Amino acid sequence: MSKVLVTGGAGYIGSHTVVALIDAGREVVVVDNLSNSSEKAMKSVEKLVGRSIPFYQVDVRDFDGLDKVLTAHPDINSVIHFAGLKAVGESVKIPLDYYEQNVAGTINLVKVLVKHKISTFVFSSSATVYGDATRFPDMIPIPEECPTESYSPYGRTKLFIEHILRDHTHANAEWCTALLRYFNPMGAHPSGEIGEDPRGIPNNLLPYLAQVATGRREKLYVFGDDYPSRDGTPIRDYIHVMDLAEGHIAALKKLEQVREERKSSETPEGFCREWNLGTGHGSTVFEIIKAFSKAVGSDLPYEVVGRRDGDVLDLTAKPTRANKELNWKAKKTVDEACTDLWRWTKSHPYGHGEKPSDE
Ligand code: NAD
Ligand code: WQD
Repeated sequence: MSKVLVTGGAGYIGSHTVVALIDAGREVVVVDNLSNSSEKAMKSVEKLVGRSIPFYQVDVRDFDGLDKVLTAHPDINSVIHFAGLKAVGESVKIPLDYYEQNVAGTINLVKVLVKHKISTFVFSSSATVYGDATRFPDMIPIPEECPTESYSPYGRTKLFIEHILRDHTHANAEWCTALLRYFNPMGAHPSGEIGEDPRGIPNNLLPYLAQVATGRREKLYVFGDDYPSRDGTPIRDYIHVMDLAEGHIAALKKLEQVREERKSSETPEGFCREWNLGTGHGSTVFEIIKAFSKAVGSDLPYEVVGRRDGDVLDLTAKPTRANKELNWKAKKTVDEACTDLWRWTKSHPYGHGEKPSDE
C-alpha cells in the first residue's frame, strides 16, 4: 500500500482527507507551512485516528525542505497537493503572492517529485476554472468539457497549474495526474473534532453563517437577491467535506489502476484527467440559510445587500464522469453537512484557536 504525501494537510480539506486516507488504511506524511492552519489541527487529526502522523512544517516553495522529507520517507509514492492560497478577493490585491505560492510552489513540488521518481499526483483544482458557465446554457449542470476561463488571479492560478500539469504529464509517460475540480465544500467531520477554521472575517458563506450562529457576527449579508434563480439568490453545489475527502481516495485508486494497466502497454504520454467533485444538486443562498438555521434550531438573521463582484448565477456540477470513472458519488446531504458543521462550531466557536483579543 502506498504512502501518500499530503501538502496542505493541516488545512480544511486536507485534514479531513488525511483522516479518510488513514481510515482507508493508507500511510500519510503531511507537509504544511501553517500559514492558514495550526499544529492543533494536526493534533486533533492524530487524536481522531488514534496514532501519530509524520508532520513537517515546510513550504512547498522550499526545494531542499521537500527534498529532505522525501529522502526521510523513500516509500512515498503518491502526492495529494492541497497547499496554496485560496481567497478570491485577496488574490486581486496580492496577485504575485498567489502566482508565487500556487503556481511556482506547484512547479517546485513537481521538480522535487521528478528527482525522487514519484509520479502519481492528485491536484486540488476548483470549479472556479469554469468562470461563468451560464454563458453556455447547455453546460448547466457543468460537465468537465465546459470551456474554462477565470475572473480572478486565484482562478487563473488553478487554470495555469492545470495546464502545467497537463503539459508535464504529456511529456512524461510515467506520470498519472488527477485534476480534481471541487465545487463548494462544507460541513465538518461527524466527530465535531475537526472542521473549517478560517482566520479573520470569513469570506465564504458557511463559515460566516456559522459565526452568526455563535453570535460572533451580527447577521449574514446576502450578496444580492435579484438573480434569475428560483428565489433570486445564486445557486452552488455544496458538497460535504467528507464526501470530497473520499473523492481523493477514489482518484488515487483510479491513478494506481491506470498505472497498473499501462505496465503492459507502451504509451508515449502520461495520463492526465479532470474530474468534477460535486453532488449534481444546487442550493440557493436562502436554502442554505434555512437548512443551517434548522440545524442550529433558530432563525439566523440576515440582510440582503448588493451583489458581490465576480459572483456568478449558477455553479452546479455534472459529476457523471467522476461517478463512472472513479466509482465515487457524493452521499451526504446538505442537512447532514449543516448538522456536522454546527456540531464542530458549537464545540469550537473559535476553531482550533483562542478567542481573538478584539472580540
Ligand atoms: P486551507 O487554507 O484550509 O488549506 C490549505 C493549507 O495549505 C493550509 O493548511 C495552509 O497553511 C497550507 N499552505 C498554504 N500555502 C502553503 C505553502 N506555500 N506551502 C505549504 N503549505 C501551504 O484551504 P482548503 O479549503 O483546505 O483548500 C485546500 C485546497 O483546495 C486549496 O488548494 C484550495 O485552493 C482548493 N480548493 C478549495 C476550495 C474551498 O472552497 N475550500 C474549493 C476549491 C478548491
Ligand atoms: C457562496 C454563495 C455568495 C458569503 C468560492 C470561490 C471558489 C471556491 C469556493 C476555491 C455566493 C453568497 C457568500 C456571504 C453571501 N473556492 N454569500 N454572503 O463564491 O461560490 O466560491 O469558494 O476554489 O473558487 O470563489 O463561495 O461561499 O463565497 O459564496 O451571500 O457573506 O454565498 O454570493 O452566492 P463561492 P462562497
